[in-house]
This record gives sequence, structure tokens and C-alpha cells, in this order.
Amino acid sequence: MNWKELEQRAHVPYSKVPKACVIESSSGSFYPGVRIENVSFPLTMPAIQVACCLCLADGETPKSVHISNAYALEQFDFWVNEFNLSVVESPKIEAIIFESPTLSVNSSEVKPTLIALLDKAITTNSDFPVSALLFCKEGVVPGVNIEVSDWTKGLCGERVAISKAISYGLTDFDSMSLHTLKGEFSSPCGACRQVIHEHMPDNEINFYHADGTLSTHYTSDLLPFSFTSKSLAK
Ligand code: THU
Repeated sequence: MNWKELEQRAHVPYSKVPKACVIESSSGSFYPGVRIENVSFPLTMPAIQVACCLCLADGETPKSVHISNAYALEQFDFWVNEFNLSVVESPKIEAIIFESPTLSVNSSEVKPTLIALLDKAITTNSDFPVSALLFCKEGVVPGVNIEVSDWTKGLCGERVAISKAISYGLTDFDSMSLHTLKGEFSSPCGACRQVIHEHMPDNEINFYHADGTLSTHYTSDLLPFSFTSKSLAK
């Protein structure tokens, strides 16, 4: 994998400017992150936010950020300060080995997997863990919510799963399942609905509620009269 190949995973239909970085954790694991734009521009996930959240969601601590030095990354100063990251200009990332992003989860394992995943959420501010499983053609990608010192810079569990899949080059999404132990009714927030709409507008989504019940919906029903615009894609 070289920078160009990693950058090609970025979802940048509006700016057409792909961006990527790689976070190395304190135990030596590597996490890719790509820029993921949204038709509602402020919901765009910067590459460094994605890579740091993927590292944290894996129970690891970000130690350094590898950049190609070809462009400026949004939110760069925040994440570098938050984790005291060392900045490594790496013209070549060919030697980096990324672990598989997918879990193998059969249908009877979905609920226990979602419950076990809650332990990986970082909810320093809310104490409200959320877990998500994104069922992709190539496998099941997990996500949990991540909170950092700035409330606006964390990501919900659903968006961690989506940004993880995309950063690892998986884009063929089948369905999503999510769970929160504390909520009475597990359901994605408005921002997640907008992001889900961009990547899986007509798919099944399963809510595993705190009371043990399950409800199945279509993502198309989650965001009626949603914001779209043909003019924004350049
Ligand atoms: N949260 C999610 O992870 N998903 C949602 O759809 C709703 C909200 C998280 C974000 C934050 O970490 C905590 O729940 C409280 O808002």
C-alpha cells in the first residue's frame, strides 16, 4: 500500500481532494484514516479524526501520526495536542502492515458481539456506550463511540464503523446493527442518519434495544425529506 492507494479510499465527491494519514499506536499497531466528506459539509470526517478514533476504538493509544507531507490535514493540531503525537513524515508506507478490520460474526452472534463491544467504547463524558456492526460484503466491521476532551471531535459508534470500513477500502455495505445498553430505544442520532444516508441509503438497520427487543428498519425511513443536492458534487 502506498499513499496514493490509501488516498483513493477517501470519500471526496465534493472537493475531489483525497486526504489520508496513518496513526501508529503505542504498542506498534497501525490505523489508516481517510477524509470522508458528507453532502452536509460540516459532517465531514477528517482523516486524522478517523485514524485516531479507529485506534482508540481498538483499545489502543495513538502515539504518532504518519503523513505524506503533501497537504495539510484538518483538525491536525487538535489531535496532535490531545495525544502528544509525534509527527512522522513518511514518503513511503509500503512496509506498514494493517490488521484485518473485520470480525467474523454469524447471525446468532450479533447480539452478544454488540454487547461485548460496548466495553471498547470510550465514554469519559457521557458514560453512554454505543456499539455498531457494519455488515459489508467482505465481512463485519465493528464500531464504538469515542469521546475526547473536545466533545465536538469524538465520533458516534455508527460513524466509527462506517469510517473504519471506508478507510480499509470496504464500501459495499449490506446492513448495520447497533446497540446501547443505557438507551431505552437504540436509535442513531441525526448526524449519524445523515452519514448513513450518504453510504447506505436503502439498507436494513437493526436496533438491539436495552430491554432485549430488536427492531428492524430501512435506512431510507430514518431520514425523510433528507438533504441532498446534485450541485454539490463537482
Ligand atoms: N452516540 C452514538 O454513539 N450514537 C448515536 O447515534 C447517538 C449518540 C454517542 C455519542 C456520545 O459518545 C454519546 O453517545 C452521547 O451522545
